[in-house]
Amino acid sequence: MAQKIKKIVFPVAGLATRFLPATKTVPKELFPLVDKPLLQYAVEEALEAGITEFIFVSSHRKPSIEKHFARMPELEHYLEDIGKGAFAQLLRDCALPEEHVKIVYQDDPKGLGHAVFVAREAVGNEPFAVLLPDDAILTKKGGGVLKQMADFIAQNDGASLIAAQDVPLDQVSWYGIVDGKPEKGPHLRVKTLVEKPAKEKAPSRTAIIGRYMLQPEIFPILEGMCDHREGKKEIQLTDAISTLAQKKPVYGFIFDGHRFDCGQCAGFVEANVAYALERPELAKNLREKLGQLLK
Ligand code: G1P
Repeated sequence: MAQKIKKIVFPVAGLATRFLPATKTVPKELFPLVDKPLLQYAVEEALEAGITEFIFVSSHRKPSIEKHFARMPELEHYLEDIGKGAFAQLLRDCALPEEHVKIVYQDDPKGLGHAVFVAREAVGNEPFAVLLPDDAILTKKGGGVLKQMADFIAQNDGASLIAAQDVPLDQVSWYGIVDGKPEKGPHLRVKTLVEKPAKEKAPSRTAIIGRYMLQPEIFPILEGMCDHREGKKEIQLTDAISTLAQKKPVYGFIFDGHRFDCGQCAGFVEANVAYALERPELAKNLREKLGQLLK
């Protein structure tokens, strides 16, 4: 029977110190690309892929994340009353049904692997997706990256899949790096993964990008890693998936799309310009203004 992914985990507990002071009270995941928060793009990508259950691994320091996806009747009524019904509709559109949302807390961030591990009960014993909202991806064809991944997973029972893209050699130490061999079109069969290797030790230039579809067998692996955590070392999801690849098929998906690293100031600014240029009502004027600024 084809496997269908219904649940997604969003690890959003991080402090985003790189963006201080902006992140003192505003979670980075709610920073806008133009006028929509990063995390809302992520939720919309998941909805497009047929995902119906949303698990946010958040922190008590960031209550506005759950607020963003809840209904806000008072503000909706107020906007209706002052004749701004279209904006009230925008608010309704970004709310998720309460019964389909779970918030689990990771107040003491111990790495991405730990974030996924704390979602284990909410996920249960079924395959699930993970999306890192920092990685904003503009795709031109075939829909969002998660949708394309869901199509592959539906036809490959028991497999896990990670999004991947080649990066310049001098950037391999910023990413999880894939050691694998080409198989099935844009897919790689993963042998091992290495988290942030030095460029001399990197097995390739193919980096893990923040979209994963994983089998529940990842949880006992993560549990073992959390139980044996040394000092303050982060629990890496990459290491757990690498172990999983010894037991069950793991594939890399070389997706077609422009990815922006919104975890860095420069990438975030670039993404804002690129997303604005996709909007016809902004593009023409923006091109002119950018031209003037660059003179
Ligand atoms: C995380 C993962 C890394 C992956 C990257 C993609 O790193 O640990 O394997 O390549 O996301 O954005 P982080 O960006 O949290 O340092």
